[in-house]
Amino acid sequence: MATIISQCSLSVLRQSAEKLKAGDLIAFPTETVYGIGADAQNMKAVARMYEVKNRPANHPVIVHIAGLNDVDYWAKDVPEYAINLMRDFWPGPMTLLLKRRGVAGDYLTGGQEIVGLRIPANSLALGLLSQFKAIGGKGIVAPSANRYGAVSPTTAQAVGEELSDYLLPGDQILDGGICLVGVESTIIDCSGDNPTILRPGAVSSEMIEKSTGIILDSVGETRIRVSGSDKQHYAPKAKVLIDGQCQEGEGLIAMSDVATPQGAIRLAEPNSIEEYARVLYAALRKADNQGLRTIRVIPPSGSGLAVAIRDRISRAAAI
Ligand code: TXA
Ligand code: MG
Repeated sequence: MATIISQCSLSVLRQSAEKLKAGDLIAFPTETVYGIGADAQNMKAVARMYEVKNRPANHPVIVHIAGLNDVDYWAKDVPEYAINLMRDFWPGPMTLLLKRRGVAGDYLTGGQEIVGLRIPANSLALGLLSQFKAIGGKGIVAPSANRYGAVSPTTAQAVGEELSDYLLPGDQILDGGICLVGVESTIIDCSGDNPTILRPGAVSSEMIEKSTGIILDSVGETRIRVSGSDKQHYAPKAKVLIDGQCQEGEGLIAMSDVATPQGAIRLAEPNSIEEYARVLYAALRKADNQGLRTIRVIPPSGSGLAVAIRDRISRAAAI
């Protein structure tokens, strides 16, 4: 059981930063999804975070940092194109995988020679990171605040549903409302000569090409393990079916121009691609909370953020 805190003033954030330093876990909003945070330098706290998530121990975690000055502490040999990406898209929904320094231990990288870094674009997250930095913290690891394989939470209430049975009374959930983007950050491998997208997100391949001046390979070949690339991930309990005719009693997620057939349960009817990303996970959750057996999803077409949405839908539908 953890406390949900809805009035996150500066003094609350200062206290939460101190709790992080003492080894407690703090769930907090980012612009993508909620993360379950632990002090990146505290191996014991990170180990407990893995337990709370029920996540296999060899899966790497993203280190969230307060500013560009903190990159050098964790990473080395940062390529020019990665610096362009940082300048253009941080703070923002983008995680860069960079060659690690020794301080980024195996417990953070899953034994790989690269470390994942991100500066989130959410005032509460940035406030917590800067308070944490002010008391000597170097970074906060924060995987999505869900049990392993489940749908990422986009509200503080959803974090509570996922994790409150596993958190301790000293842990906290900071409530910052609904996440504005709604799907996880774009992960870009920057350990080679060219950037490679390992997980699509709101920072699209077109944006990366424009920022770096490098044309990306169409298929991201990589030697790196990314847990979000497991076949079934981000999945609700209900069965997810893509396209086809929505039957009576099934949940339906589709753009607003798709009508709801008689007897179907409309879970979301977004008016734009951005809104689709923002409501997708809450809609999948709603289906489970209502005990639906099947969710019919009509994915959005197009490039940019639509690519990330289709990626998550196809993972949710994988058997
Ligand atoms: O939007 C996001 O990225 C959210 C918010 C909370 O920041 N976080 C998130 O974390 O989605 P997580 O752990 O659920 O997914 C991060 C992915 C995992 O698939 C992990 O394997 C990969 O990033 N990753 C992190 N560090 C890595 C590393 N050093 N090497 C390879 N993959 C890494
Ligand atoms: Mg996750």
